[in-house]
Amino acid sequence: MTAPLWTRTDLVAATGGRADGEPKAEITGVSIDTRTLASGDIFVALKDHRDGHEFVTTAFKAGAAAAIVAEDYQRQPGDGALIRVADVLLALQSVGRAARARLSPSARVIGVTGSAGKTGTKEMLRACLACVGKVHASEKSYNNHWGVPLTLARMPADTQYGVFEIGMNHADEIRPLSKMVQPHVAIITTVEAVHIEHFASVAAIADAKAEIFEGLVSGGTAIIKHGTEHTTRLLEAAKRSGAQAVTFGLEGDADVHADELRMSDEGTMMQVNLADRHLNVSLAMPGRHIAENALAVIAAMNAVGADVESAAAALVTLAPPTGRGARMILPVNGGEALLIDESYNANPASMRAALAALATVPRDKFPRRIAVLGDMLELGSSAPAMHRELKTAVDEAGVNVVFACGPLMQHLYDALPQSIQGGYALSSAELGANLANALSPGDVVMVKGSNGTRLGPIVTALKAKFNNDVSAR
Ligand SMILES: Nc1ncnc2c1ncn2[C@@H]1O[C@H](COP(=O)(O)OP(=O)(O)OP(=O)(O)O)[C@@H](O)[C@H]1O
Ligand SMILES: [Mg+2]
Repeated sequence: MTAPLWTRTDLVAATGGRADGEPKAEITGVSIDTRTLASGDIFVALKDHRDGHEFVTTAFKAGAAAAIVAEDYQRQPGDGALIRVADVLLALQSVGRAARARLSPSARVIGVTGSAGKTGTKEMLRACLACVGKVHASEKSYNNHWGVPLTLARMPADTQYGVFEIGMNHADEIRPLSKMVQPHVAIITTVEAVHIEHFASVAAIADAKAEIFEGLVSGGTAIIKHGTEHTTRLLEAAKRSGAQAVTFGLEGDADVHADELRMSDEGTMMQVNLADRHLNVSLAMPGRHIAENALAVIAAMNAVGADVESAAAALVTLAPPTGRGARMILPVNGGEALLIDESYNANPASMRAALAALATVPRDKFPRRIAVLGDMLELGSSAPAMHRELKTAVDEAGVNVVFACGPLMQHLYDALPQSIQGGYALSSAELGANLANALSPGDVVMVKGSNGTRLGPIVTALKAKFNNDVSAR
């Protein structure tokens, strides 16, 4: 039997709510969505796109042990134990704070923010720290005003390492989340022009990311990328928060850097220099940006006092999360094509990183490089220029054919020489059909665009068309 995560008494105390009914089972989890609710979860009736109160009865049917609801919720037939609160989101945050407060003093908490690479870095930390202790980490990209408190609320009391993804679209969003998480170590993976439409400049984005340092416990560690135009700004912010700063970067003078580096399409091998200790690290995921994230992970694990040697061994087997560089072989017309699925999301930084990673695929195995590119969203008025400017990265990656999708990506498509224009469509459905017909053995196809461009279905369709037997690479 799973140990209870919370008792009703704990939750009433944490939320200041009023108990209405006795739970019939122990509370073993926390859910905000009845489609994924597990038996024993407490259902939190948040208001988001829909009002969670409409689903309370469904939650009990699905096995909820109790529900946190607004004071004026009208009990329905079949409802079980309720905890009535003044504000459901604030109650979830209070449960989150209580979860953080009950951790053992020896437990260590890491917060991860940045314009790209939060989930990838968080998943590396989860896999590595699981080798040396009991880890609790955010699900998916649960990094916002409900995702962070939900992740906290789900954290078992005996967690040794907590890993939290913290995100934002606007200034002043990260500060309160970081104060809830109270990390011992805060990582900023990278600062780029993402969500720029809500900011005056990229420096203002750096400042918003640096809010994470304000939540650090006293004497905590700020992990900052070395050698960027924002490094000094972030170091100053860390200092203002009283944090110790540790820089990471592949180049020589970062605090945590690579003395030796060998990158291929299979992954990266590096000798990491960690305050003059040396550590051999192998990554199963290719790409310079992934190697940089791994250095941040190693710096963070060192800062929390984990056994870095044992923990980093997990990186040898870790595959990229879905839609973030996962690779698979497609049987195509008696030969093979390589599909690189980057369809989860895109911004100028991750687009460049993905094109650079495409360029590491050896020509002798896959001679023709195809990039399937969808719109990068939330870039404001500079969006057309930012799409056009990808031409340099496309050239540098030696891309042979570009398929483009969406009104913004048309700006790039029109700037390309006709010789590499493979096809353009406004919608991903239309583009997918053309692409599938164009595939030949020896192609490597990298698919990337913002989530809203819906390139994921292209990947699914390619897999379905070519493959009844896709082998993970
Ligand atoms: N350091 C980095 N620099 C640039 N791109 C990166 C970096 N790390 C990861 N990426 C790329 O960015 C994309 C998104 O990665 P990931 O999902 O980890 O980011 P995220 O910050 O969690 O995004 P979101 O804000 O959508 O939650 C992937 O294509 C990934 O390969
Ligand atoms: Mg994420």
